[in-house]
Amino acid sequence: MTQDVIDGSAVMGRDVWILGGTGRSGRATATALIERGITPVLVGRDAERLAHAADQVKRATSRGSALDHGTAADHHPSIQPATGCKVLTAPSPQAVATEIQRHRPAVVINTIGPFTTTAPVIARACITAGTDYVDLANDLAAVSAILDLDKAATDAGRTLVTGAGFGVTATESVVVALCAGRVGALDVRVDMVPALEVEAGPIGDALAATLLEGLPGVAGGGRFEGRRYRDGRLVRARIAGEVTHLTLPDGVTVTTASMPLGELMAAQRASQASSVVSSSSEVPGSALVRAIMPLATSVLRWSAVREFAKRRLAKVEVKARAKPREHSWGHARVTWADGTTREGWLRVGEAQQFTGTVPAEVTRRLLEGEGGPGAHTPAALFGAGLAAACGGEYLLD
Ligand SMILES: NC(=O)c1ccc[n+]([C@@H]2O[C@H](COP(=O)([O-])OP(=O)(O)OC[C@H]3O[C@@H](n4cnc5c(N)ncnc54)[C@H](OP(=O)(O)O)[C@@H]3O)[C@@H](O)[C@H]2O)c1
Repeated sequence: MTQDVIDGSAVMGRDVWILGGTGRSGRATATALIERGITPVLVGRDAERLAHAADQVKRATSRGSALDHGTAADHHPSIQPATGCKVLTAPSPQAVATEIQRHRPAVVINTIGPFTTTAPVIARACITAGTDYVDLANDLAAVSAILDLDKAATDAGRTLVTGAGFGVTATESVVVALCAGRVGALDVRVDMVPALEVEAGPIGDALAATLLEGLPGVAGGGRFEGRRYRDGRLVRARIAGEVTHLTLPDGVTVTTASMPLGELMAAQRASQASSVVSSSSEVPGSALVRAIMPLATSVLRWSAVREFAKRRLAKVEVKARAKPREHSWGHARVTWADGTTREGWLRVGEAQQFTGTVPAEVTRRLLEGEGGPGAHTPAALFGAGLAAACGGEYLLD
């Protein structure tokens, strides 16, 4: 075993913690942090899995495989890669919250879904401890819950960044780039098109819960209904509706359909448009799925059915899958009051790798004091340049 275990007496003032340090996103983020000269602490439920994850991160770092588009040391020559993650065992998000208050790390990166459950408790602990907070939430309920903590974070002088993964960051960045220097956007549609490599294994508790939790506490409709913005307000909308066939800049065609993602709120805030729709290529847009969706979501209203479905779904084994296309894409189309429309794309490599890089780059900037107090989404805080610093490439009208 090559890593140290944090003992109870350590004072961790400048440390960066990754919650869910054993997971795919946690490991990818750890690797990208090390490439930026920052050695994270991996936090998880099981000491053995943590030790294994720390070794995997060390191997990935020594292979220099963290970034498709050069390492952070290439972008920032003063940065030297760091190595050797420490680990910290905590059995639950509540126990992690207690540890945050005790050790007061500089930044906590939360990769434990469902974020509707973990994000508010961890973010509140961070605000009290004087710690900055970053998460990978991509669901509307969790993104909205963190953005609602804006005043508490501002009053405490802390920064909360939600949506720091491919989901939210890719499409939000395109909206920010298209709307730079222009006001009066009326209508926005964003489409996320990830190219995801899938590891073999069970779906797992966190993802199963994220998929089946719906939108608790989100204005404008019921827990298992879709959402969009109309007249500047969140209203009910069909899930898997508004089917669109897109031709990507590299000529590949994909179909996207509406989904009430964190992207929806980020795109509305970035554009101030009154009409906004968020869509994904991961939503099957077939007529059959659209017919089944209301039935499936109506039975999920019963918590016993939901818990049963979550347990079963968590155990479902998925097969390893190579990424379905070369690039992942964030797409946005914005129409202004004067009738002009602009379209833009952000091209990145494998979406999971981008999801590791964004929180690492956000954290680096927070450690360097570039954040601002309050609750933000990534491109709203750091501008369109953030995605470019993470290897993304813009193709704008
Ligand atoms: N925004 C985006 O674009 C984006 C992209 C990718 C993923 N995500 C989201 O990020 C989350 C993580 O994704 P992933 O692919 O990294 O998942 P993963 O590989 O299954 O990892 C999940 C991690 O969370 C931990 N965990 C799960 N339930 C926990 C609990 N109750 N208490 C403490 N730790 C718990 C697991 O620890 P153990 O080892 O102890 O099980 C593991 O470390 C998911 O919710 C996913 O939807 C977002």
